[in-house]
Amino acid sequence: MDHFNYHGGVLHAEGVALSDIARQVGTPVYVYSAATLRRHFNLLTQALDWGPHLVCFAVKANSNLAVLKLLGDLGAGMDVVSIGEYARARAAGVPGERIVFSGVGKTRAEMHAALEGGIRQFNVESEPELRALSEVAHAMGRSAPIALRVNPDVDARTHAKIATGKSENKFGIPLAWARDVYAEAATLPGIEVVGIDMHIGSQLTDLEPYRQAYARMADLTRTLRADGHDIRRLDMGGGLGIPYRRDNSAPPLPMEWGAVIREAVGDLGCEIEVEPGRNITGNAGILLSEVIWLKRGEGRDFLILDAAMNDLIRPAMYDAHHDIVPVIEAPPGAAVAPLDVVGPVCETGDTFARAMQLPPLEAGDLVAFRSAGAYGAVMASEYNSRPLVPEVLVDGDHFAVIRARPSLDEMLARDSIPAWL
Ligand code: LLP
Repeated sequence: MDHFNYHGGVLHAEGVALSDIARQVGTPVYVYSAATLRRHFNLLTQALDWGPHLVCFAVKANSNLAVLKLLGDLGAGMDVVSIGEYARARAAGVPGERIVFSGVGKTRAEMHAALEGGIRQFNVESEPELRALSEVAHAMGRSAPIALRVNPDVDARTHAKIATGKSENKFGIPLAWARDVYAEAATLPGIEVVGIDMHIGSQLTDLEPYRQAYARMADLTRTLRADGHDIRRLDMGGGLGIPYRRDNSAPPLPMEWGAVIREAVGDLGCEIEVEPGRNITGNAGILLSEVIWLKRGEGRDFLILDAAMNDLIRPAMYDAHHDIVPVIEAPPGAAVAPLDVVGPVCETGDTFARAMQLPPLEAGDLVAFRSAGAYGAVMASEYNSRPLVPEVLVDGDHFAVIRARPSLDEMLARDSIPAWL
C-alpha cells in the first residue's frame, strides 16, 4: 500500500497534487511519500518484533540524505557498499554502530575510513579482503567486527542480473569453505567474528529460496559455534520483492518473510539483521514526467516523454515493468489505445513500455511512473547531457525539494578545458 492516490481526479502524493509539484519544480522529477516510507519501514521492523533485530536500509536503493534521515530517525540502521554511502548515512545522522559495510570490493582506504568513523560490522566477502581488513584494523590498533558473507548456492528465482546467491555469482564465500575461513578469521589480529551474512538476490517474489538459504545459515551457525566461534548476529540480507503491477501477483509480505526467518533461526538466540532496500522505498516513489509529443507512426504510436533512460534505467537494463498512469484521471470507461512509451534519448533502448494500453494523452499532459522509489534516482546519469533528475519529498500536505535540478551552467562547470587546448 502506498500514498499515491487520485483525489478529485488528480493523482496526489499524500495531500499534494502532483500537478502542483510539476508546476513548481518542473519535470522530470522523482516524488517520494514520507508516510509510505514510514509505513514500509515499520512493517519490516514489526515483522522481526519476536526478537532483537536491526533493519539496515540498503542505501543503494535510494541514497538521498532526506530519505536516510527520515529512516534513521525511525531507528533504521544502514547497509552501505562504499565510503560514499557511508558518508551519506553519517551525514544523515546515523551513528556508526548502526552501519553495516557490505560489498565485494572494499578498498583499504574505505576500511580505514569506516573504522575511524565507527562501524557496526563489515560483511566480508573474500579471504584477501579479510586479511587486508585485519592489517588495516591492527595497524590502527582497532578491532573490526565481522560477519562473513556466505554464498549458499541457492537460486533466488529472480532476474539474472540481480541474483547473487548462486555459486557462479561473484558474491560471498562458498559455503563449503566457510569453516576454514572462519577458523582463519579467529586467528587474525584486529578481527572480531560476530556473525554470518547472506544475501541471495533482489526482487524475490517467492519465499522458498529464503527458506533454503536460511536453513543452511542455521546449520552453519551450529557448526561454527561447535568450532568455538561466538556467532551472535545473523544478517539475513535483503531482496524482498514489491508489487510492480496492480494485479493479484503480489509478492510475500514482510510479516511472512519475518516468519520464515523466525522459523529457520529464531531458536538460535542471535540478533537478526536484514538489509532491505526496494521493499522500503520502491513503492514510496514515483517519477513524474510530461508528454512532449504524441507521435503517430506506421502501425504504432509513440508517447514521447521528457523522462528518459538516463532518469530511470530499469526498463532498459532489466526489461523492468513500471506502471505508467496519467496524473489527470481518465474518466470511467474512457477508451484506451496501445502506445509505445519512450524518452528523448537517441537509443532504441530508451523505451519504457511497448503497446501499453493508455487513455488519450497529448503534449503537455503529465504521467507518473509508479514503483520508482528504489533504484530510480540513484541509477540516473546525465547521458545525452540531460541534467541529473531532481527529487522531492512529500509529507502530508507539504513538500520540499530534496535534490535540486542542476542548471546547465552547473552541469558544464564540472568539466574543465586544459590551458594547452
Ligand atoms: N544487501 C546487499 C548485499 C545487496 O547487494 C542488495 C542489493 C541489497 C541488500 C538490497 O536488495 P533489495 O532489498 O533492494 O532487493 N538495480 C537493481 C537492483 C540491484 C540490487 C543490488 N543489491 C534493480 O533496479 O532492480
